[in-house]
Amino acid sequence: MTIEMKEDDFIVSKTDLKGRITYTNHIFMEMAEYTEAELLGKPHNIIRHEDMPKAVFKYLWETIVKKEEVFAFVKNKTKNSNDYWVYANITASCNLHGNIIGYYSVRRRPNPEALETIIPLYKRMLEVEKSDGVDASFKVLTDILAEKGISYDELIISLQK
Ligand SMILES: Cc1cc2nc3c(=O)[nH]c(=O)nc-3n(C[C@H](O)[C@H](O)[C@H](O)COP(=O)(O)O)c2cc1C
Repeated sequence: MTIEMKEDDFIVSKTDLKGRITYTNHIFMEMAEYTEAELLGKPHNIIRHEDMPKAVFKYLWETIVKKEEVFAFVKNKTKNSNDYWVYANITASCNLHGNIIGYYSVRRRPNPEALETIIPLYKRMLEVEKSDGVDASFKVLTDILAEKGISYDELIISLQK
């Protein structure tokens, strides 16, 4: 079953440098159907959904380690194998010396119209990933961006509007 986020809800989590969960808010636990004890210290891929292309997470990690923020539409899987879509912003948290000490993500309800574009795009990326690998899958995305003459951020932010 697909669970929908409410309009005013936001889901928050923090991780250490390796993506292990160090904090979640209550809405996170409610949506993911896990208790705090089941989440703390676990890799964030505990809620990874198999419909998500690997290329999206590769781009995510390559970007946040550079201290650049990422916007992404992500499908997550709950403990009871339900799923929910989010519009996520993910950033690095730095100390006063500018060193990364962890990562932080806030998610909101995605624009349903955006998912009409994202779902077939991810499906195509996943197919390409299975036959030709992650780089070829990422190229599906970059080819679309080149065709539209826009950046990844411009695409994602425009879809959410
Ligand atoms: C702050 C932060 C939040 C993340 N949130 C999610 C998330 O909600 N869902 C998800 O599948 N992966 C999330 N990830 C990415 C995971 O760390 C992981 O790369 C992804 O689930 C893919 O798993 P895999 O690398 O084992 O294939 C997040 C990473 C960070 C640093």
